[in-house]
Amino acid sequence: MTDVNAALVHVNQVKNQIKSKMANTLIELKNIKKIFQVGGGFLGSGSKNLTAVNDISFKIEEGQTYGLVGESGCGKTTTAKMILMLEEPTAGSIIYDGQDAFKTSQSNPEYKKNYKSSVQAVFQDPWASLNPRMRVKDIIGEPLEINTDMTKKQIQARVDELLVEVGLQAYQSNLYPHEFSGGQRQRLGVARALSLNPKLIVLDEPVSALDVSIRAQIMNLLVDLQKEYNLSYLLIAHHLATVRYMCDKMGVMYLGNLMEEAKASDLFDDPLHNYTKALMSAALPSHPDIERDEIILEGDVPSPLNPPPGCVFQPRCLNQSKCTCSKTPPTLKEKKPNHMVADCICCTA
Ligand SMILES: Nc1ncnc2c1ncn2[C@@H]1O[C@H](COP(=O)(O)OP(=O)(O)OP(=O)(O)O)[C@@H](O)[C@H]1O
Ligand SMILES: [Mg+2]
Repeated sequence: MTDVNAALVHVNQVKNQIKSKMANTLIELKNIKKIFQVGGGFLGSGSKNLTAVNDISFKIEEGQTYGLVGESGCGKTTTAKMILMLEEPTAGSIIYDGQDAFKTSQSNPEYKKNYKSSVQAVFQDPWASLNPRMRVKDIIGEPLEINTDMTKKQIQARVDELLVEVGLQAYQSNLYPHEFSGGQRQRLGVARALSLNPKLIVLDEPVSALDVSIRAQIMNLLVDLQKEYNLSYLLIAHHLATVRYMCDKMGVMYLGNLMEEAKASDLFDDPLHNYTKALMSAALPSHPDIERDEIILEGDVPSPLNPPPGCVFQPRCLNQSKCTCSKTPPTLKEKKPNHMVADCICCTA
């Protein structure tokens, strides 16, 4: 069994244990939209609207993993940044602890501090996310120093504990990031994300910059930590096998829109939207003997500066002749139990 296969089996075992728990919603995105103003001259004159995220809604349950997939530029990271409060939505709300996170944070600094501690991130490139001039103890200890009243001694003890938690050793707290391998640096990123006991960790391509053999180890670590701390994850990844085995539920984005949402296994086994079918067909099958028809989509993804009217997928749809959605965009509807799809006659034909 390869490292990756062994990791996937392990992931499945742990996930089944987690699933036996009842899940409550931790965070809910309601009709979130993000429009960037791009280009333009003095004081923004002549600038254009770029719709990066267009009216999407989904929930992340406690202790579970929600996956977001879709082609480059479809708005996954922008969605993640809004959840991390690094970008403010143009419209819509993010509900956390029963309240609108952005609105409440404006008047309630305690709520904002709690939100920021509870929602952490691990990014794709461990090089870029760790300050090369800081020792590991300062990198991991920094959030504790800023957000807690812990003494230096307590912080050092917590850093040592976190290093061991992510499979490193306490003595390594005196080292600099360049003294670690790529996989170890990603472990440091995970340790830093864990330092404030978060409830949700946004994982934006957490293993794609790593060597294949290391990916399995980091996936295992993330799954073990999820089980231990009942963490929720938002996982953004291009590698569909990783998404399939790590996620409970997932959403498929296209040009800022959520096209389909279902339990991860349902979405892989029975994709309904033509875009999802094409996306899934591009993934390698789990066994070389499994036959599959690869669906090649024609044309490029349209520009988010000038999206097509109606269904944004319509110009590339496999079944344009029957299309009824070129004017009115279809909305997400439940087509099968807990399986939502934004389709019209042509999208699922
Ligand atoms: N700060 C910004 N200003 C203007 N446009 C932006 C900004 N951030 C993102 N965009 C645009 O928003 C769209 C969505 O970008 P985003 O980074 O969310 O895509 P993505 O799905 O994460 O892509 P990838 O898979 O390549 O990481 C893109 O067209 C991008 O150019
Ligand atoms: Mg991205």
